[in-house]
Amino acid sequence: MIILSSDPLAVLTASGDETAALGAALMRALPPRAVVTLEGELGGGKSCFVRGAVREFLKDPDAIVPSPTFTMVNGYVNAAGRRCWHVDLYRVRQPAVLVTMGLADLREADALLFVEWPDHAQEPFDDALARVRFEHAGESRRRLLFQAPAPLIAPVALAARGACSGPCAGGEAEG
Ligand SMILES: Nc1ncnc2c1ncn2[C@@H]1O[C@H](COP(=O)(O)OP(=O)(O)OP(=O)(O)O)[C@@H](O)[C@H]1O
Ligand SMILES: [Mg+2]
Repeated sequence: MIILSSDPLAVLTASGDETAALGAALMRALPPRAVVTLEGELGGGKSCFVRGAVREFLKDPDAIVPSPTFTMVNGYVNAAGRRCWHVDLYRVRQPAVLVTMGLADLREADALLFVEWPDHAQEPFDDALARVRFEHAGESRRRLLFQAPAPLIAPVALAARGACSGPCAGGEAEG
């Protein structure tokens, strides 16, 4: 893992596991109710990131966290009774689908909400606490760009730095 820039935070991950670790780090800093949007290309690692976040949420590193590509919504309840929703709006072609899936209720829910393809919703997610953009950067490399308040960014940067090997461990990578 390499920190490409710290403000705004941009991290280059070299595997799905590294991307999931950043999701887990963000989860540890999130309040019980928040919206996190995940933007970027197909196969960018959005679901992978949420898998790490949900496993942290459930405190279960082996939890099965499938991509909501076809179900569109997957929901999780942790031991404390908190809820976390993972939504994928990629396949939404008509507003009626958003109504059927109850997106408005999910947005209002006292829960965490992770949204892939947020631009496919009718209403912009102006209330998102954190936004993460995913870009392909080579076969198993992905560039993750974070936009969130400093208290959320700090633990993600710390996790990225801790996982860095070589020259990036002490600070930002060059170039
Ligand atoms: N550095 C990396 N980070 C994340 N995923 C990676 C990385 N390198 C390879 N991969 C692979 O890329 C794929 C990412 O798939 P994932 O479903 O997370 O993407 P996605 O952004 O959710 O796509 P979609 O828009 O189709 O939902 C997985 O097969 C994963 O193993
Ligand atoms: Mg996905």
